[in-house]
Amino acid sequence: MTKITELIKKMTLEEKAALCTGAGPWTTTPIEHLGVPEMTVTDGPHGVRRSEDVTAFVTKSVPATCFPTAACMASTWDVDLIHKLGEALAEECIALKVDVILGPGANMKRTPLCGRNFEYYSEDPYLAGQMAVSFINGVQSKGVGTSLKHFAANNQEYQRSTISSEMDERTLREIYLPAFETAVKQAKPWTVMCSYNKINGTYSAENHKLLTEILKEEWGFEGLVVSDWGAVHDRVEALKAGLDLEMPGPRERRVKAVIEAVRSGELSESTLDESVRRVLEIVFKASETKKGGSFDIAGNHALARKVAAEGMVLLKNNGILPLKGQQSIAVIGRAAKEAYYQGGGSSHINPTRVDDPFEELQKLAGNARLTYAEGYLKDEGNDQTLIDEAVKNARSANVALLYISLPASKESEGYDRPDLDLTRQQIMLIKAVTAIQPNTVVILNNGAPVVMSEWISGTAAVLEAWMMGQAGGGAIADILFGKVNPSGRLAESFVSKLVDSSAYINYPGENGQVRYGEGVFMGYRYYDAKQIPVLFPFGFGLSYTNFVYTNPKASAETFKDVDGVRVSVDVTNTGKVAGKEVVQVYVHDNKSKLARPPKELKGFAKVELQPGETKTVILKLNFRAFAYYHPAYKQWITEDGEFDILIGASSADIRCTLPVTLQSTLELPSILNRDSTMREWVEDPRGMSVLAPLYQLLNAQMSANFGSNEIGMDPIGFLMDSPVMSLLYFMGDAMTTSPEELVDEWLAKVHATD
Ligand code: BGC
Repeated sequence: MTKITELIKKMTLEEKAALCTGAGPWTTTPIEHLGVPEMTVTDGPHGVRRSEDVTAFVTKSVPATCFPTAACMASTWDVDLIHKLGEALAEECIALKVDVILGPGANMKRTPLCGRNFEYYSEDPYLAGQMAVSFINGVQSKGVGTSLKHFAANNQEYQRSTISSEMDERTLREIYLPAFETAVKQAKPWTVMCSYNKINGTYSAENHKLLTEILKEEWGFEGLVVSDWGAVHDRVEALKAGLDLEMPGPRERRVKAVIEAVRSGELSESTLDESVRRVLEIVFKASETKKGGSFDIAGNHALARKVAAEGMVLLKNNGILPLKGQQSIAVIGRAAKEAYYQGGGSSHINPTRVDDPFEELQKLAGNARLTYAEGYLKDEGNDQTLIDEAVKNARSANVALLYISLPASKESEGYDRPDLDLTRQQIMLIKAVTAIQPNTVVILNNGAPVVMSEWISGTAAVLEAWMMGQAGGGAIADILFGKVNPSGRLAESFVSKLVDSSAYINYPGENGQVRYGEGVFMGYRYYDAKQIPVLFPFGFGLSYTNFVYTNPKASAETFKDVDGVRVSVDVTNTGKVAGKEVVQVYVHDNKSKLARPPKELKGFAKVELQPGETKTVILKLNFRAFAYYHPAYKQWITEDGEFDILIGASSADIRCTLPVTLQSTLELPSILNRDSTMREWVEDPRGMSVLAPLYQLLNAQMSANFGSNEIGMDPIGFLMDSPVMSLLYFMGDAMTTSPEELVDEWLAKVHATD
């Protein structure tokens, strides 16, 4: 018998119930006489938010490194760097006596309005999954746990605690679950945190299908499921659904309800034992890592600077960047002196220090003279004198650097953004400065896209610097002066206007429901399918050098789905400075039974190249790269046929196309049923072999009766989308067997070989 099974035998019902609910805001319930320690958890995800007093819900947290937010992390497209960041977070957890950090957040950015998008990685499930894997592996490699959150379909803050995310099974499986699935399967997070919202009417905390059938049974999740803070509504139902640990605690009444439910037979003790087992496994695992000591404050600050610089995305550059030789620089915008580097809410970190963007510029600016003007008010509102002062400085300088940060009142955990705009004063400022200073560079600090149509044309360059973490001020300077060649790529599309965004007409929902009506066509999948031009596409980002792609190859022209295919391409740095390119591989299915997005990201690699250097990038595409989820088969399927493998520098900049043919090895059962149409029977080989006589008969009859009709309609086409059963009804009494019996007989033949 294992130690844990023995322990469970010794535990009273009261102790078991108590263990499955927190003891405090950030700790689990210890059982001293049995040697079960308490476990401390803390937010996440871009820094360690360890309360000074773990028994208090909101207190000042002890200083820790504030790394760049997830939006910036994902834009690095650098899995090794995110692994390192994870390791650093774990070291800080160890020093600050934290067992589990509450992150990463793997929710999809369904709408750019979601106030919490800065805590999430991407609109693409593949990219988000890879980031989550690296983050988790990095943290857990040091013996500290993670909490993959918020599982699942928590894609807006509006009514986040009650709204029901309504979607079909395929959309859930293909868009909203895969990042979690990849992370669970490949990185085994110690804990998964359920979301606040409902999915198709059932709270995530009480969702058996989600927590038990999918997460634990299908994906093999071995850790514990923790509730988001306050997400549990009915503790007993939640336990039955697979929610192991309720947070925060203490919750006397909840514990009592569990005890009573076991006593009354409503909840079986073995269900409770299973949650107890999972909690104990993690609590003991956590206790194996010795806590305490210190962490490398300077080293982690430097790492935060590196990640920030790698994640910043150069969106526009007419050649003004990198800066060189300018004698006078007008630095404008309060964000140059008050770094806007993290978002509001539970992820808020008390930083060890914060780089002052202006000072960091000064350090790299050599003999250039820097002036400063505040430029705009902290929030909405207008002060013309600020603009006038900025214009005056800009006019007499060689270049103007406009540091623009979105006010925190416009984006945060807890509420969504009302629009994608900067403040009115910021827009007026940019217009006024660009009108008199052609060399104007706009540096944006924000957690999610802003629209730019009103002002971008006048700028010389735009750098998306995100909520960049405590060292971001230095990272901006590194990029502006070319100490770092920008290599960030957008992990989300930037639309030209809000109304273009894929969820626009299905957001924020009403009557307690938000309908994911765009289905799998979310983000670039939608803009591609609808051919809607965006301001900056998914995967986009400029560099100070150029890259050329040559010699694309697939390891086979025809391959079996289970074998997958290897793709390679040579990438050459044809410019004068070293740089990094993100090679992106998308897959396009030429023909499929269900509608598919024109292209989907299935692989990527970031490579560093010296001037003139060439490297071969090799990526493996597996079964899932070509598959889609078919709700009728209840599984991921592949279909025989032709695909294009698209290799590019962004979703809109495809440099090479490799046509390949896939052979599916799946032997799928027939999905024909009583409602199936003639077309479905004809397209199903087994169906056609049974139905051929009827089809031929109808075809002949229809051609005879309508073949020479004046309108030119397709005679059999008229019938193809009617259920075979309905067609048989038309034949009426001419038939000796009833339509139901006949169709059932045919179906039996078809399904005999399933
Ligand atoms: C947030 C979680 C967070 C938790 C604990 C919740 O409100 O949604 O992301 O981990 O609080 O602070």
